[in-house]
Amino acid sequence: MTILITGGLGFIASHAAASLLESNQELVLLDNLCNSQESVHQKLEKLTDRKFPFYRGDVRDKKLLRKIFSDHSITAVMHFAGLKSVAESVKDPLLYFDNNVGGTITLLEVMQELGVYQFIFSSSATVYGVPEYLPYDESHPTKPINPYGQSKLQVEAILKDLAASDSRWAIACLRYFNPVGAHPSHLIGELPNDQPNNLMPFMMQVAAKQRPFLTVFGNDYETADGTGERDYIHVMDLAEGHEKALALIQKTPGMHIINLGTGKPHSVLELVRTFEKVTGESIPMQIGKRRDGDLPVYYASADKAKDVLQWQATRTLADMCLSSWQFQLQHLSS
Ligand code: WQD
Repeated sequence: MTILITGGLGFIASHAAASLLESNQELVLLDNLCNSQESVHQKLEKLTDRKFPFYRGDVRDKKLLRKIFSDHSITAVMHFAGLKSVAESVKDPLLYFDNNVGGTITLLEVMQELGVYQFIFSSSATVYGVPEYLPYDESHPTKPINPYGQSKLQVEAILKDLAASDSRWAIACLRYFNPVGAHPSHLIGELPNDQPNNLMPFMMQVAAKQRPFLTVFGNDYETADGTGERDYIHVMDLAEGHEKALALIQKTPGMHIINLGTGKPHSVLELVRTFEKVTGESIPMQIGKRRDGDLPVYYASADKAKDVLQWQATRTLADMCLSSWQFQLQHLSS
């Protein structure tokens, strides 16, 4: 039983791969390296003491996909490959629909052709859009406010119809909240190829003195300290949630939509203060204007994941901050 992991050298996928390898799963990884580094392959083999094949390529390459499926007895796919910058999706929606929707359709066509029906999809809380109530549960209306979220929702719609068309499909759509942190080996973590969009990698660069200060995008929100609140989840908790989702689809066909979050919102300032406390580093800040498209607050109801996956996040904000910094230090010294 071999699992294909697309986008396998990326931030979240590489941590899922580490967990699966440590659980003795056989893996094949595919990545086009548009937002990852090939060195992650060797790092994963080192930290798990396991060998596995890596293919450099794109999920839109049907010929390559067929080769991978015929060279390895793939029984399930975890599909992480996709673009994930909200701002970039607004500037170039076609790029996002081609990559995120077109790429998934190509992958599903090859799976169907070769009789592989177990599929885990990397979805996102951005499918919900403006909260009508909080926390978001999986029944919350889905009205994404940017092309990135729309591309994820369109894939979910395709997967729903696919599962309805053929009872052999066993699909889990995992809606991530805000993944942060790094593997305890400090060998893998979040390392965007270009300027980071997200708070934690940006804060790491400020802490590493690669940037002079952190701009806080607005402190006039209706929140306890005026800054935006999010459901930050440790990437290792997220990885373990994927292992539980794999166990679910191996025994239960159909379509399962599940939030992966902690259910606990934290503000920007809380994250910064926690980081400073656990690392002893200081983060110079400037208050800037709100970022277009930002929501004041969003966080998950994690009840369904607890019920259906027997999974819940266990790591703290301090764990997230410390592991991110330990990875950053290791990366800077390598
Ligand atoms: C978090 C908070 C910002 C940077 C994104 C994407 C989506 C999803 C999760 C995958 C907000 C504030 C940020 C900075 C700041 N990932 N901030 N200064 O926007 O919640 O969600 O990641 O699906 O791709 O929507 O994450 O880390 O950008 O922002 O003040 O330099 O930090 O305003 O309140 P976001 P983020």
